[in-house]
Amino acid sequence: MFIFRRKHLSVYCLTVLLMTGSVGALAQDETPAVSLFDRLGGLMPLSVVVSDFIDVVVTDSMLNANPAVDASRKVVPAPYLKYRVTAMVCEATGGPCTYQGRDMKSAHAHLNITAAEWDQMVMLFKEVLAKHQVPETETQELLDIVGSTRADIVATP
Ligand code: HEM
Repeated sequence: MFIFRRKHLSVYCLTVLLMTGSVGALAQDETPAVSLFDRLGGLMPLSVVVSDFIDVVVTDSMLNANPAVDASRKVVPAPYLKYRVTAMVCEATGGPCTYQGRDMKSAHAHLNITAAEWDQMVMLFKEVLAKHQVPETETQELLDIVGSTRADIVATP
């Protein structure tokens, strides 16, 4: 996804500044508030990253060694998860989406997710972000957002 490359990201940010008329604020030496959603390039690249991530996690043998996760993978379609997770990340990063799925505790309580499975998921997520060349700052912000759900998802901390 070319939009994630640093060179293009700065061009993109400049365009956002010009379009939103924030150049005056820059002249006064103020830091413009560009949402994480906009810095990532919006819904198109975001949906591609989430789609790749879901493709990787639903086929991961370590995660599927958990019988409850494996059983759920057989009945919950990947496109549904892609839709829900895209809406969730879009909203959490300041985008124009509204997440209407279940809260994280209700969605994962029956899965008995362990700390080791959580760590595996984070590792896979980092690999997908690196593959798409998401810059360091934005990667950390996305990891913080995902990390904020850990207490609701991991059953055996
Ligand atoms: C090891 C970590 C995780 C595993 C193994 C996992 C697995 C699953 C599974 C199997 C489902 C389907 C549950 C069912 O309906 O039976 C699900 C649903 C979902 N998960 Fe996760 N998940 C993990 C972490 C996360 C994280 C970090 C997020 C978002 C930050 C997330 C977001 C969602 C969403 C939005 C749904 C759909 C909720 C709904 O149906 O309304 N999951 N997950």
